[in-house]
Amino acid sequence: MSEVGNEAEFVVVANRLPVDLEKLPDGTERWKRSPGGLVTALEPMLRSREGAWVGWPGVPDADAGPFVEDGLSLHPVNLSAKDVEDYYEGFSNGTLWPLYHDVVAPPAFHRHWWQAYTRVNQRFAEVTAEVAAEGATVWVQDYQLQLLPAALRALRPDLRIGFFLHIPFPPTELFMQLPWRSRIIEGLLGADLVGFHTEGGARNFGWLATQLTSATESGRDDELNYHGRTVRLGAFPISIDSRALDELARSPEVQEQAKQIRADLGDPRRVILGVDRLDYTKGIDVRLRAFEELLAEDKAGDTVMIQLATPSRERVEHYQRMRQDIEQAVGRINGAYARVGHPVLHYLHQSLPRNELAAFFAAADVMLVTPLRDGMNLVAKEYVACRTDDTGVLVLSEFAGAAIELRDALLVNPHDTDGVKLALRTALEMPDAEASKRMRNLRKQVLTHDVDRWARTFLDALGLPPADSDE
Ligand code: ADP
Ligand code: F6P
Repeated sequence: MSEVGNEAEFVVVANRLPVDLEKLPDGTERWKRSPGGLVTALEPMLRSREGAWVGWPGVPDADAGPFVEDGLSLHPVNLSAKDVEDYYEGFSNGTLWPLYHDVVAPPAFHRHWWQAYTRVNQRFAEVTAEVAAEGATVWVQDYQLQLLPAALRALRPDLRIGFFLHIPFPPTELFMQLPWRSRIIEGLLGADLVGFHTEGGARNFGWLATQLTSATESGRDDELNYHGRTVRLGAFPISIDSRALDELARSPEVQEQAKQIRADLGDPRRVILGVDRLDYTKGIDVRLRAFEELLAEDKAGDTVMIQLATPSRERVEHYQRMRQDIEQAVGRINGAYARVGHPVLHYLHQSLPRNELAAFFAAADVMLVTPLRDGMNLVAKEYVACRTDDTGVLVLSEFAGAAIELRDALLVNPHDTDGVKLALRTALEMPDAEASKRMRNLRKQVLTHDVDRWARTFLDALGLPPADSDE
């Protein structure tokens, strides 16, 4: 598609566009890549299909019109400051996010947030209905847009609609706390196919649908009957563009940069890395505590830790408090264990370009991924894809979706500080032969199960023919 038209055969709808509008202090504006795993996963796939993307431009009160960016046709849904406060920061990230992540922070239930959520989902449906061609396929993404499938079907019954949830679908007892539980399930049942990362998520959803709506079992595990239609359910574990990242990590520039990072750290024996959106579900505090205790017990050896954290949802209260706690812990740890010119812990509250991130992955001997709950966690897979020489140890929370596939990681319970500490020590001291054996297995998994395969499996199940670029 060379110009922006309203006749797209394939449309992705997500809360955010793959690029965010940034307003600079001098009053000018520019577009920059959006944060998070969803964009990482979907952008390469949509680019190869020359599709359209409908989403919010990432700032309140923007007045952005449709535009083409690098072959992708982008259709902004502009939101007011009030919409952002109530729909995005409120219902999406103050109610659904903590509820779906095992209530690791208490969710808040406010009726005006819910009203904003319904209003904004309806607006997304209206924009999508204008963009999609007759009989087009629309793929709706994530928890911010769970009412969209039904709203869109009401406007455009000709469309083929898929929905994928990028975060965990919660245990049924937790979901039942939601005052608007039936409306959410009805919203999702507007899709022809509802996808989750895990079988457990699909099962929970299927059971709730039969309890809370008129949906009935069809006799098959992966199907429901609803309003005279069939709604399919399934598990589709998401992944990354593994080959592209492997190639990037092999490049002389990235390898050189990785060496430079280690040199800048003072060439320690071991480098530990954490890379996350700064989110309270990611368990950054857990790994800092484990590292701090190893230092206190003098068991960390000649080790330096780096924590990279992309700024995220900075106006939401839980995020502000967590940032303060983490930054305090970083100060405390360096205060106690650093020497002049040699911090033991480096913390960057910044979003880095892909090649720099690849260099950090290539430089790290141990990767700590310790979420209390995570739908998938792409960072774990990115680390593996960047370990082109089969070295490095991944320590991974058993509560990340990725733990189902990455069995050769050192799996830990992030609630068990002693367990995390032991795994960290084991990782720091693991003999090379064992580390290589584990990493080879991990790489086999990640390189064969990439994001293309994920998208193709989902779209096949939705009945969409392969794109020209698919093998
Ligand atoms: P989530 O979707 O919850 O943010 P994921 O781990 O699935 O979590 O995806 C996070 C994505 O954001 C990954 O692609 C990761 O590389 C990227 N990312 C995380 N931290 C940074 C950072 N500091 N700079 C640039 N990208 C980052
Ligand atoms: O699935 C995780 C997710 O919420 C995505 O929907 C989103 O793109 C990403 O994390 C980043 O979050 P946010 O858009 O709130 O900055």
